[in-house]
Amino acid sequence: MTKIKDIPQVDRPREKFLKKGAEALSKSDLLAILLGSGIKGKNVKQLSEHIVKKFGKGFLDIKIKDLLEIPGIGQAKALQIVSAISLVKRCYEEQKGNEVIIRNSKDALSLVYDLRDKKKEYLICLYLNARNVLIKKETISIGLLDKSLVHPREIFHPAVEINAASIILIHNHPSGIAAPSEKDIEVVKKISQAGEIMGIAVIDFIIIANNENYSFYERLKIKNDNWDYVAEEVQGTLFDLLKIERPIYEIDAEKVKETHFNIPQIKKNHFQLQNRRYIGNKYKLIDWIFSIVDRECKERSSFTDIFAGTGVVAAVAARHFEKIVLNDLLHSNYAIYQAFFSNGSWDMNKIDNIIRDYNNVDSDDLEDNYFSECFGGKYFSHKSAKIIGFIRENIEENRDILSIREYYILIASLLYSIDKIANTVGHYDAYFKKEHIEDGFFMKPIDPISVRNVDIFREDANLLARKVETDIVYVDPPYNSRQYSRFYHVLETLTKWDKPKLYGTALKPASENMSDYCRVQAKSKLGQLVSDIKAKYIVVSYNNTYDSKSNSSKNKITLHEIKDILMRKGKTKVFEKDYRHFNAGNTDFKNHKEYLFVTNANHD
Ligand SMILES: C[S@@+](CC[C@H](N)C(=O)[O-])C[C@H]1O[C@@H](n2cnc3c(N)ncnc32)[C@H](O)[C@@H]1O
Repeated sequence: MTKIKDIPQVDRPREKFLKKGAEALSKSDLLAILLGSGIKGKNVKQLSEHIVKKFGKGFLDIKIKDLLEIPGIGQAKALQIVSAISLVKRCYEEQKGNEVIIRNSKDALSLVYDLRDKKKEYLICLYLNARNVLIKKETISIGLLDKSLVHPREIFHPAVEINAASIILIHNHPSGIAAPSEKDIEVVKKISQAGEIMGIAVIDFIIIANNENYSFYERLKIKNDNWDYVAEEVQGTLFDLLKIERPIYEIDAEKVKETHFNIPQIKKNHFQLQNRRYIGNKYKLIDWIFSIVDRECKERSSFTDIFAGTGVVAAVAARHFEKIVLNDLLHSNYAIYQAFFSNGSWDMNKIDNIIRDYNNVDSDDLEDNYFSECFGGKYFSHKSAKIIGFIRENIEENRDILSIREYYILIASLLYSIDKIANTVGHYDAYFKKEHIEDGFFMKPIDPISVRNVDIFREDANLLARKVETDIVYVDPPYNSRQYSRFYHVLETLTKWDKPKLYGTALKPASENMSDYCRVQAKSKLGQLVSDIKAKYIVVSYNNTYDSKSNSSKNKITLHEIKDILMRKGKTKVFEKDYRHFNAGNTDFKNHKEYLFVTNANHD
């Protein structure tokens, strides 16, 4: 038997490790160092080779009993090996917890510090998930960068395989000058276009030279005070920043003659469901939507409003269908549905009395509270904020003398009442900077709706779709990057009343309930949703603002993509209507149209 001392020095595992480093050693060499000595009849190298060969790819799953089956291996050696494997697994798991988030070009550059010294040109791609966490770093090419040499396939193939949401490309200029060459610009345009088509955002292309860097993202961004890749919840992409022209997507659509559908107005001096400001609400489109539903969807008695928002569509459905289901991600919408629609009992006199008492509270008698300290002088006058905070606290304190429905009726009444005096354009992404904000908070009760059979959820639509089954599922997702949970954060905070720490000038809490429908993966999410829906008819609302010049109001999915997704489920008709759409101030898009897709998913 060859003893380890008979092996030439340079081939001995320990010496080899010290001279050439761990990378130069084979798996069996590394195992030999760990074991230290052989067993009778086998030197340590032969023993390690035997073990590595015997377990092959299952090496990381070796059990002590497996090792004890090898003649000459005792408990001590078996323990040594299995402990080392467990240690590696543990460290690996821990490292997995240490996610690397790429927020800006600095974060990206910290991952390629060695590129600066390379003599050849490299193109590196960072693959990120939807939260901008690094999933993979890959060298795409070595050698001169040329658009004819760098094929999008090489960049996007791994992205599709690992389900990346976005990518960042990093390239070095050994010449020492970071400014992009003509060829770089061509590559950036080509890759950005391909990314747009594939729904994988190309966020940045960074060039590294000796002592300088060039980030296309930073250069193209107009604002130079914040170069983070995700600003105000909107993910910047080079496609948008380079203003590459989008193809015009026309779609064949029918117009319909509308008949009248409505939400009954019952009590005066009470809020009706539709009496609130909400982006994308379909109140003004109700006649149109139900005229189409009525004509196209036969033999139907149950209706799910899976992105219900204000719930106005479900409210009309409640008058024409035996059963309705409402769902939305937001806590405030859930509270509003519980108040307006749920089956629980309530005593309206009790509610009226409580609200009358609230309206008699004098703000000068109140101390400051969470709400007034956070939002006073900003979203509301200081006095109004004091009263709102006091009322919310009082509802919580009296929870045990209120039925569940009464509790939610009070919260919903408060939410509707604050909407009337908020110092905003209707959402809470910003407030008007004013010397003086009018007081005048006055609480009015809501007017609950009687519904026979209702289910209310606060779930991701994609998860709920697998659980509910109704004749019609109405799908009205967000159309663009504007996250509802961020736009209505004050309503969320007031509903949850968990008094979170707030950040930034808009005083938002840490992000929660972020919708994938506002991100690049909107299309794949919709595809999955439609495929999972169990219904005779799927009715989808969408509009055509994808051409809008404002990034945040651009559509996430094109009309053709929606039609393609729906056609896989069944025969699909498209209807259109001219419509004046929400405009936050910087949207210059004219010719807004609303679209309704109706898919007959009856599987005969
Ligand atoms: C266009 S609005 C719906 C408007 C509604 N049809 C109305 O008339 O008021 C989209 C709604 O989808 C909700 N949402 C966004 N992502 C969601 C998700 N993944 N699951 C459930 N709801 C979601 C938002 O909170 C928002 O209320």
